[in-house]
Amino acid sequence: MGKIVIAIDGYSGCGKSSTAKALAKNLGYTYIDSGAMYRAATLHFLNENLSLSSEDEVRRGLDSLEISFRINPETGLQETYLNGRNVEDEIRSMHISQKVSELATVASIRKELVAQQQRLGRGKGVVMDGRDIGSVVFPTAELKVFMTANLKTRAKRRQLELLEKGQSVDLIDIEENLANRDEVDSSRTESPLMKMPDAEEVDTSDLTLEEQVAKIILLAKAKIKMN
Ligand code: CDP
Repeated sequence: MGKIVIAIDGYSGCGKSSTAKALAKNLGYTYIDSGAMYRAATLHFLNENLSLSSEDEVRRGLDSLEISFRINPETGLQETYLNGRNVEDEIRSMHISQKVSELATVASIRKELVAQQQRLGRGKGVVMDGRDIGSVVFPTAELKVFMTANLKTRAKRRQLELLEKGQSVDLIDIEENLANRDEVDSSRTESPLMKMPDAEEVDTSDLTLEEQVAKIILLAKAKIKMN
């Protein structure tokens, strides 16, 4: 059976990454977290003290940016590396969450990261999640999913995720951050977040992780059969 490309887009914190990860595992596909790339780029620009409003500094930042993913042999989980350093936990912090959407509006940065994402997904058999995967990165993806969930549910899930990483954050701050990122991501000129007409919408507000994964596995299997 032919392998397909699965694009999962949607609002901040509605479970795209957890779903995409479980889906990739079930299908034996590669999972690519495009959001982790924007987060790692944000950390890099902050560490190097580079301004997003200077073309020169953006170029310098991109030239010195190397993002990769490696599997942790102990946990079997994929982790993000920035210039050879494991930054998986650091990029999930609220500090990065508060800065990332601004960086994601910069056209030259998007162009570079999209090119890397397209290279990573070249062989098919890939599940990628983000904001512009079905619209820009893989417009011909065989399966496009647009995930939504109400803000309260998303904030509670994210709070739990952060707590599991040892970061205790107030619910109201998380809610504010998610809402703010949704607004910036949906209204930017460069590849804004939007539901593509050929995307399947999945509202996860009242679904458990297992239920939402099962739902998308069904959609994927139907597409794989047709391929
Ligand atoms: O996991 P969460 O929903 O918090 O977000 P993420 O997928 O880690 O993405 C972080 C941020 O990166 C988003 O809010 C967007 O600003 C940006 N992003 C983007 O612009 N395009 C993508 N394909 C993925 C992420």
